[in-house]
Amino acid sequence: MTVLERSSVLSKETALVILARGKADLKKYGVTGEQAVFVKNAFALERKVIPFRCGGQFVIVVAKPLKSDKNQLKELIRRAGACLVTLFNDEKVDSITIADSDDNTDHLMAFAEGILLGNYQFLTYKVKDKAKESNALRRVILYSKGVKEQGLERLRILTEATAIARDLVNEPVSTLNAVELSRQFQRLGKEAGFRVEVLNKAKITALKMGGLLGVNKGSSTPPTFTVMEYKPARPRNKKPIVLVGKGVVYDTGGYNLKTGAGMETMKCDMAGAAAVGATLWAIAKAKLPVHVIGLVPATDNKIGGDAYVAGDVLTMYNGLTVEMLNTDAEGRLILADALAYGEQYNPEIILEFSTLTGAAMAAIGHYGIVCMGTVDARTKTKLRNSGDQVHERLAEFPFWDEYDELLKSDVAELKNIGGPMGGAITAGKFLANFVKSPFMHFDIAGPAFLTAKDGYRPKGGTGVGVRLLFDYLSNY
Ligand code: BES
Ligand code: ZN
Ligand code: ZN
Repeated sequence: MTVLERSSVLSKETALVILARGKADLKKYGVTGEQAVFVKNAFALERKVIPFRCGGQFVIVVAKPLKSDKNQLKELIRRAGACLVTLFNDEKVDSITIADSDDNTDHLMAFAEGILLGNYQFLTYKVKDKAKESNALRRVILYSKGVKEQGLERLRILTEATAIARDLVNEPVSTLNAVELSRQFQRLGKEAGFRVEVLNKAKITALKMGGLLGVNKGSSTPPTFTVMEYKPARPRNKKPIVLVGKGVVYDTGGYNLKTGAGMETMKCDMAGAAAVGATLWAIAKAKLPVHVIGLVPATDNKIGGDAYVAGDVLTMYNGLTVEMLNTDAEGRLILADALAYGEQYNPEIILEFSTLTGAAMAAIGHYGIVCMGTVDARTKTKLRNSGDQVHERLAEFPFWDEYDELLKSDVAELKNIGGPMGGAITAGKFLANFVKSPFMHFDIAGPAFLTAKDGYRPKGGTGVGVRLLFDYLSNY
């Protein structure tokens, strides 16, 4: 982990990174008049990153992006921060002091956030080359009088929580099956201070969670159902907020087998679960005054002699019957049980995160999160604002009654696929049959896992959902 500190004096011991506007007075950072002219000329040539030596110190001036929209500007600053990581590696920079020429605390924090999130690496399996491939940066100091310790601590927690979620997603199924995923949640609970209970297969069977058991039938690993609870002394909410995360540790599609290309990224199918676990870790660490319960149904979706097949009928935890017409629409089956199970807590709202449909990814790509549901307009606005703040933007899809028609089955109460139209929506509609409380479904299939790096989001698991949820819960 990169160490994050603040200081109101400029250190000569670290490299100095200044986020600066064209007109900025650089002399206050010890930059000589000649060098300031050099920077001005470089800006005129539209150079955005200007490294030079000043006395014994390595200085990097970064052109501060321009944008009138507050959130878009913050995002450009995060991205500017992330793009410096390669330069730090090339120049073997291990500690930096960062400054903003406007002394804008929000901007400096966004810059630090981009640097920290962009500095993430998954090196667990780089045994031979670990040292060589490891990023150089270890320490970031914010030069500021405005940054408060609490803000800094939240940034530490949030960037670490994002890394926790990314690590979980990047871990392959051979080392992170359903049982191991539940152990990881137990570890997180111990570390941050929240309660974790893992229901094993016997308990899941006794509870008659037909969806989770059905998907698990083809697996050689038992399913798990993890219940996490963070309850502070004086929570702001009377009724708990329930978070649900899809924990399909690997999705082959089952007998409706995916193609080779379709399967390549499917270790990411527990990204919703990772977001929920990492969020509980973060809010417990930050001691947010909110009562939150996290539920994660987990299994892989594989083939085997006993695996479920198209045409099977499953009886779900809430008693509804489902005609299984496609074994690759497995996420909604395990989530249905978890959502129905969540009702016992009499929740204020249920927020559910899942890599649920290729249709959501096809619709908006990896640029945002598809969402839909029944929470009130005020909650939707709050969620949307949080999404804009952290740039995990929400695109709300319609949730009209007509879509329910597409899920009617001839032999059971529901079928698990809705046909070629509105695939992301019929998936969400399917889930709505299992909840009574106000609920919101977040389909993160697009942004959960990238096949190429994008700014501070690495190739692989992105940790999407953690920053959104943390922002929402910290404003609750
Ligand atoms: N896990 C997939 C969805 C997915 C696709 C996530 C791509 C991330 C990237 C999900 O279980 C699935 O296979 N959904 C099917 C549903 C269909 C059979 C109705 C899909 O989207 O094709
Ligand atoms: Zn699937
Ligand atoms: Zn899936």
